[in-house]
Amino acid sequence: MKWTLPALFLLLFVGYTWAQEVWDHAAAEEVNRELNKPELIEKGRYLAVLGDCKACHTAPGGSVFAGGRPMPIHKLGTIYTSNITPDIHTGIGTWQLEEFERALRHGIGKDGRNLYPAMPYDAYAKITDEDIRALYAYFLFGVAPVHQATPENKIRRALSARWPLKVWNYLFVPDEPFEADPEQSAAWNRGAYLVQGLAHCGECHSPRGLAFQDKAYDQTEKGFLGGGPILDGWQAYNITPDPDSGIGLWSEEQLTQYLTTGHVNRLAQAGGPMAEVIENSLSQMKDSDVAAMVTYLRTIPPVKGPDRAPRQKRGTPATDVVIKRGNLIRRDAEPMNLNAASDGARLYLGMCATCHGVDGTGSKDGYYPSLVHNSTVGAESDHNLRQAILQGVRRTVDGEEKMMPGFSRELDQEQLQKLLGYLRRQFGTNSKNQS
Ligand code: HEC
Ligand code: HEC
Ligand code: HEC
Repeated sequence: MKWTLPALFLLLFVGYTWAQEVWDHAAAEEVNRELNKPELIEKGRYLAVLGDCKACHTAPGGSVFAGGRPMPIHKLGTIYTSNITPDIHTGIGTWQLEEFERALRHGIGKDGRNLYPAMPYDAYAKITDEDIRALYAYFLFGVAPVHQATPENKIRRALSARWPLKVWNYLFVPDEPFEADPEQSAAWNRGAYLVQGLAHCGECHSPRGLAFQDKAYDQTEKGFLGGGPILDGWQAYNITPDPDSGIGLWSEEQLTQYLTTGHVNRLAQAGGPMAEVIENSLSQMKDSDVAAMVTYLRTIPPVKGPDRAPRQKRGTPATDVVIKRGNLIRRDAEPMNLNAASDGARLYLGMCATCHGVDGTGSKDGYYPSLVHNSTVGAESDHNLRQAILQGVRRTVDGEEKMMPGFSRELDQEQLQKLLGYLRRQFGTNSKNQS
């Protein structure tokens, strides 16, 4: 008799689990199983790299594609990225191809609600039907399900309605997938397809309008890739072929090296969001795809911005102070103590010079980059320089980590201003000498 109760519980538990299985199974049956093919899944895996889905859909330290990464949205609040693993309860395990397509190209979720454009569906709108099928095959049949509920968004009440997004989509979002231009080469078309669509470079590098829409989605529209808004404190530069404001003076080799490694000494290094794009996406692309993007980027119309000189050509090595046998002295051989240097120079010598050199030209092998002729130091606005100093730089490519520590705890506002002033005066925008 004393076993009856536990047995009853056991029976209930087994019954419940069984019912759940049957239910799950039924739900999973609906999905498009005919797309469960190894070649298609492999193709989709690579497309997911091109689209950098991992960067947003993975929380710091969390499972890949299980979502939950917080994304602060200007004036709106914080939203969390969705779990896009094929878990039946918390992910997209019951989605059909049409539903997946609607989310990617039109920003509409399974239940018909509009997605916030933090999900770059306005760029993904260019993805072809064929590639959508491959992505679907990968996410439904090639990714392991992870059971993890997406946290509730923290959006200001008054702004939480999603219907205005319908109007926004109607007004701004392209509604036709990419169409190749028969006048152009296959490489150009491939590059255009990737830059405008999956690789969504414009989401950061194109200017935004009043409704925060991308002002230009391809090279036929004014301002395309002519420099973006400030997002999370970083600003994506003008990457059109304009020689002063863009990257017109970079060679093809330099651009290729930057996109695949994030580092070209005496030119530019990638920090912040660009470091992530390189780590998760660009460094893992096939050479032919990177080459195609470079081909395309060279042909888009140049956009003139506020820069009066190429940002990577500014500054001169510091000559005011050198270290001799452990003592700071002036170049003209006057012995000098640290206190006599300007506050900015002193901060530079104390915090930065060990790696970037007393004169700012970095280490001989270029591992520690030169701050002279450095696009982040020479840029017209100091947003990225500020972020690089406060947050540091971290990037892992091909198993090799590049790391600069952040200095947010060491510097107060006033010190930061003084340091920025020195850097820009000596190595950057305001230096008198340009070469
Ligand atoms: C720049 C960040 C970002 C990138 C890159 C990104 N997503 Fe998203 N995605 C989001 C956000 C944020 C949401 C949630 C939007 C919301 O809640 O309104 C989302 C939602 C989704 C949804 C809807 C899920 C649901 O349950 O409603 C799907 C499907 C999706 N993304 C797939 C993808 C795929 C596939 C890729 C790569 C090709 C990708 N995303 C790349 C940010 C991103
Ligand atoms: C998530 C936002 C984001 C996306 C997406 C993005 N970028 Fe960037 N990009 C940036 C930021 C921010 C910088 C500045 C980085 C720095 O100063 O360290 C940058 C810098 C660059 C630079 C260096 C320019 C210079 O003068 O230093 C190039 C070239 C570039 N990006 C190309 C691309 C291409 C091509 C794509 C698409 C494949 C792309 N980016 C996608 C944010 C982005
Ligand atoms: C421990 C060594 C070290 C110290 C100290 C250091 N840096 Fe760096 N810095 C690096 C490395 C490594 C990189 C990244 C190189 C790369 O991206 O390939 C870097 C990159 C940079 C960049 C380019 C960032 C970008 O996003 O474009 C700037 C600017 C910079 N450092 C300025 C400074 C300043 C200013 C200081 C002092 C406050 C400083 N660094 C201190 C090692 C250091």
